[in-house]
Amino acid sequence: MIVLGIETSCDETASAICREGKILSSITWAQSIHEQFGGVVPEMASREHEKYLSTTVRHVLEQADVTCNELDAVAVTRGPGLMGALLTGVNFARGLSQGLGIRCLGINHIEAHIFANFIACPELEYPFLCLLVSGGHTQIWQVNDLGKYSLLGETRDDAVGEAFDKGARLLGLAFPGGPAIETAALKGDEHAVAFPQAFRKSNEIEFSFSGLKTALRYYLEKIAKNKTKVVLSDIAASYQRSIVEILAKKLQQAVKKSSIKTIVLAGGVAANKRLRMEVQEVLSDCTLFFPESKYCTDNGAMVAFLGEIYMNINSLSSDTFTTAPNLSLKN
Ligand code: KG4
Ligand code: ZN
Repeated sequence: MIVLGIETSCDETASAICREGKILSSITWAQSIHEQFGGVVPEMASREHEKYLSTTVRHVLEQADVTCNELDAVAVTRGPGLMGALLTGVNFARGLSQGLGIRCLGINHIEAHIFANFIACPELEYPFLCLLVSGGHTQIWQVNDLGKYSLLGETRDDAVGEAFDKGARLLGLAFPGGPAIETAALKGDEHAVAFPQAFRKSNEIEFSFSGLKTALRYYLEKIAKNKTKVVLSDIAASYQRSIVEILAKKLQQAVKKSSIKTIVLAGGVAANKRLRMEVQEVLSDCTLFFPESKYCTDNGAMVAFLGEIYMNINSLSSDTFTTAPNLSLKN
């Protein structure tokens, strides 16, 4: 079975080829046009996908040494994401699959992030807990099987990726903010500033990051007013510490609550090395799986891979799916 995966939910134009669970090729075109605006401009994201998607697909086919006629299916992200961006991918996938007379599968982006863990770790066994941390989501899922998920907790407001992106903007760092803060924090003292950690003392598994961003803004205003000399790397490291500590702490509570000791990370923020270190330290008695960084941030491989799984069990109805910007993962 050979499946082409297409991902255009936000600002990465990505595609990949998966054959029998192995990724033969994968290309992610991170749209740099948004950097000058400090965030993703939806209209521009759609236009960039339109410009680059067909080239990306041609290149993954060439790199995998696969022709269009050898494809068994096209899998495409149908949501959640930006409507216009999603539509470029879905319409491209539908046209291609109809031309080739093969199936077109609509894939849930969140589910694809979770299942990216199986690409590198086929030995991963159910049930497991997944900390899903991206630009749009901060959730802890209990994954009992394919299609059997229960949400143990999530953010009340901003997603953790947003906290990184907005924090970086306040600090005058580049977009996307996660990698920028991680790099800026490298030589910093992470105990220099005590930023808040919402719900730290609560037994509930829930997150809130909007207060953290505000705390950073007030802190920066205060030091500007007092003309205090500060080191950017110290602020970045302290801000990052506040985020990773609360994520690991809540994951620890989820382990206690569920008695499940197999943990995976997913989503763009899962690429953060300081987060991985914290999780390793706090959950040293658990079995941990961390996907490679290229499979944490948005990519086509996770879509092709999950598409092939659904093709094998023949469970997603072809072509009848809708594009769904607010798609959630069903409990
Ligand atoms: O999963 P993803 O690529 O797209 C969404 O589905 O949202 O996640 C993007 C988010 C951005 O907010 C970005 O700043 C964050 O992931 N991110 C990181 C790192 N790499 C990407 N955050 C912290 N550390 C990183 N190394
Ligand atoms: Zn994503």
